Amino acid sequence: MKHYPYQIGTMAEYQTAYAESLNYPDQFWSGIAENFVWHRKWDKVLDWNFKEPAIRWFEGAQLNITENCLDRHAATAPDRLALVWEPNHPQEAVRRYTYAELLQAVNQCARVLLAMGVQKGDRVCIYMGMVPELAIATLACARIGAIHSVIFGGFSAQSIADRVEDAQASFVITCDRAYRGNKSIPLKAVVDEALLKTESVKKVLVYQRTGEACAMDASRDLWWHEAMERVSTDFLPATVMDAEDMLFILYTSGSTGKPKGVVHTCAGYMVWTNYTFVNVFQYRPGQVHFCTADIGWITGHSYILYGPLSAGATSLLFEGIPTYPDAGRFWDICDKHSVNILYTAPTAIRSLMSFGDGPFEGKSLNSLEVLGSVGEPINEEAWHWYQDKAGKGTLPVVDTWWQTETGGILISNLAGVTPAKPSFATLPLPGIEPVLVDEQGNRLEGPNVSGNLCIAKPWPGMLRTTYGDHERCRTNYFSAYKDLYFTGDGCLRDENGFYRITGRVDDVLNVSGHRIGTAEVENAINLHHEVVESAVVGYPHDIKGQGIFAYVIASSDIKTDDVLRQHILNAVTKTIGAIAKPDKILFVKGLPKTRSGKIMRRILRKIAEGEYAAIGDTTTLLDPAVVEEIIQSAKVL
Ligand code: WT7
Repeated sequence: MKHYPYQIGTMAEYQTAYAESLNYPDQFWSGIAENFVWHRKWDKVLDWNFKEPAIRWFEGAQLNITENCLDRHAATAPDRLALVWEPNHPQEAVRRYTYAELLQAVNQCARVLLAMGVQKGDRVCIYMGMVPELAIATLACARIGAIHSVIFGGFSAQSIADRVEDAQASFVITCDRAYRGNKSIPLKAVVDEALLKTESVKKVLVYQRTGEACAMDASRDLWWHEAMERVSTDFLPATVMDAEDMLFILYTSGSTGKPKGVVHTCAGYMVWTNYTFVNVFQYRPGQVHFCTADIGWITGHSYILYGPLSAGATSLLFEGIPTYPDAGRFWDICDKHSVNILYTAPTAIRSLMSFGDGPFEGKSLNSLEVLGSVGEPINEEAWHWYQDKAGKGTLPVVDTWWQTETGGILISNLAGVTPAKPSFATLPLPGIEPVLVDEQGNRLEGPNVSGNLCIAKPWPGMLRTTYGDHERCRTNYFSAYKDLYFTGDGCLRDENGFYRITGRVDDVLNVSGHRIGTAEVENAINLHHEVVESAVVGYPHDIKGQGIFAYVIASSDIKTDDVLRQHILNAVTKTIGAIAKPDKILFVKGLPKTRSGKIMRRILRKIAEGEYAAIGDTTTLLDPAVVEEIIQSAKVL
């Protein structure tokens, strides 16, 4: 096997690394894994089958991911900045943590968790705003081998209760409130409401962010600042973990039922987030990396916390939103903190586009070197605008395709190293073997084909199971096509072998980069007593990528008016969260169904898109007349 560097620097090196990774995976990944700190090295690099599935990387190895993210940099570069925190309100003070300081804070928080009774393997739910303490709490769990389950701060009490219950979490870490733009959101009150619905939680740790009045239950709730005062500030040795011990659970939506708890394990996830961070963004020591995602999503886990910190980068944590106090906020932050790498989402780019050039006035953006996009397909117009305005027409843009389940980036160009092509994620990373299949599972070979995107071999960062329900993992990802991991995405391969992701082919929506199952939204709508039945589909939306279109049959004695519409929006907000609120609600008398009772979503999607002429044959429907009725009311919505 040829020697190649950890960081790929040329197209030729990419080609060598890619070939080696597929031809000699064991040698390749053990070479990569040499770049980390281990308590014990692996006996076997990889053991796998996709049938069960059973995927084990670096079997026999022992480590703690926080030693790789913190201790090793605190030893060699203690004064380098690990975290820079930019508050929601620009006039509030920036907070900075060097690697030595972040290690100290994580250890102190880990001692608080130990004092609360948290043990290795316990599940800890974290529901916080984007404050440094969120990063600290998450890493503190990893320090002591507790399994973190971070829940995005926009989710409802019911969503928290479902996730606490599913994971049987015994501890919650939250904030009194969170600032977001000109709002202050009562996180602790939402947690209190959630915990009325479930029994498993023993203690709640509360970080005081805003200081507004906040109910505390003396038998259950502790203030972060008081608990931190009570513990020693001494070094805390990391708990030694097995390679395949669980690191975290992250809940994500699927095409059916309730969100599933995607499980990632210690060693493989660490290797994958580090390797992809260093290569895709072409990270150089000392650079400042600004990922605008929330830590409540996988992007934040992998590219605010574990990837950048394991690489020794300076990671910027932003509490606010792109348009507060104005639409120049990202550019202000880039200048203020000399950001080198900016990683954001197409929905943010499209939203900023609508404000024109004004927000760029007086901004230098001279520190920027690499631009990244993630979360949904980026249209060509947005791609070019991003490169022209933020990148002054010259900076490399990486379009990174991946999923909660993949742990890190699978398909992307490498900044300035491999070619870019607007709206294409382009080429797979080493270790990734994409396969396109048709509906019958036939592999589509060669250039210029479109099909369902699958991955043929395991990679270190892939999910291992869905928490508490391995069979669900198997049926969701490994049963559609034999011996393949199925992504749920449609994809095209062009004449150069570049991949373009065309969007989900299942009943999962991508709204502003947030993943939402249509079945979840339908369940929430159906909870309303005046609703008989509903069907939810996505439709193209200029800013959000996809909008949510709900067809609702209301009970006959109800006037289908704005009051019911408002009730439905409230029900969805209460059951899932405001991110899942339908953009359009159309009251209908019936839904297009087959004779066996299956809702014809394809027809509903066409109507939502306004493509009335493309609906096609409706004669096989139970009641074809219903389609014409829906079209007439859709036209006047
Ligand atoms: C789905 C995964 C990956 C972290 C954020 C979302 C879509 C993601 C791209 C991209 C086209 C993309 C896919 C994927 N997606 N990145 N660069 N180009 N589509 O994670 O919530 O797990 O959603 O997001 O449809 O399956 P997620």
